[in-house]
Amino acid sequence: MSITVRVPAKVNVQLAVGAPRPDGYHDLANVFLAVGLYDTVTATPADGLRLTVTGPDAAQVPLDGSNLAARAALALAERAGRTADVHLHIAKDIPVAGGMAGGSADAAAALVACDALWGLATPREVLLSICADLGSDVPFSLVGEAALGTGRGEKLEPLQVGGTFHWVFAAADGGLSTPAVYREFDRLCEGREVPAPTAAPALLAALRDGDPHALAATVDNDLQAAALSLNPALAATLAAGTEAGALAALVSGSGPTTAFLAE
Ligand code: C5P
Repeated sequence: MSITVRVPAKVNVQLAVGAPRPDGYHDLANVFLAVGLYDTVTATPADGLRLTVTGPDAAQVPLDGSNLAARAALALAERAGRTADVHLHIAKDIPVAGGMAGGSADAAAALVACDALWGLATPREVLLSICADLGSDVPFSLVGEAALGTGRGEKLEPLQVGGTFHWVFAAADGGLSTPAVYREFDRLCEGREVPAPTAAPALLAALRDGDPHALAATVDNDLQAAALSLNPALAATLAAGTEAGALAALVSGSGPTTAFLAE
C-alpha cells in the first residue's frame, strides 16, 4: 500500500514584518495564499527511512536529516512511539529555496501521508503543533487555501477568498537563504522604529471580494527590499512583469521567486 498527498505552494500577498524578537524570530502579519503549483509526496512502507526526489530542482534538495519531510516523518513516528519505516518519494515542482514554502509543503505532505499510512488518525491540533515545531510556514502548508499567519507565521486564521486569482511566477537562478533575508531586513531597518505588523483591512477585503485590481493595489512584502538588496537582478524581473501587463509584481516571501498578478 502507498499513500500519495499533493500539496500546494504559497505566495504571500502581504508580509508585514516587525522588529526582531528576543528569540531571533520576527512577529509577522503574513497573508498566505495557496497557489496551483504542487509537490506530490508518496509514502510507502520500507525498512528504515528512505528519501528520493525527482523534478527540475531535485539536485538541490538535501536527502539527509536536514530534509524537512524526513524530519516530519521522524517527529510523527517519535510521537506515536514507532519507527519511521517509510520510503518518502517527493515529485517536486515547487522551486527550491524560492520563497514559495516548497520545503514546508513537503513536510506537511509527509506528515499527512505517514499519518494515513501508519493508521494513526492524529488529531489536527497535534499535527499543527508538529508543523509549527518544524518551521514557521509549515502549519499553513497543512491547512492551505488562504490564511492570516501571526506570531512568527504559525498562528493561523482562515481567510475567505471570493474568486480565483491568476498568477505568473518567475523562478530565479539559485535560492535565497530565509535567515539571510531577515538579517538584511534588520540591517535595512537599523536606526528606525519598526511598527508592529498588522494585516491591511483593504487587502483582506480585496481577497474576500475576489477583486484582482483591488488586490494589486494592496499587495505588500516587507522582505522585498531585503531580497532585492541581496539579489539586485530581481528588480529587472519585476519590471519585465509590469511591462508585460501584470497588475502587480512582487517578490514571493523571502524570494527569489517573483510573483505577478494577472487580470
Ligand atoms: O521557521 P523557519 O525555520 O522556517 O525560519 C527560518 C529562519 O527565518 C529563522 O531561523 C529566522 O532567521 C527567520 N524567520 C524570522 N521570523 C519569522 C520566520 C522566520 O526571523 N517569523
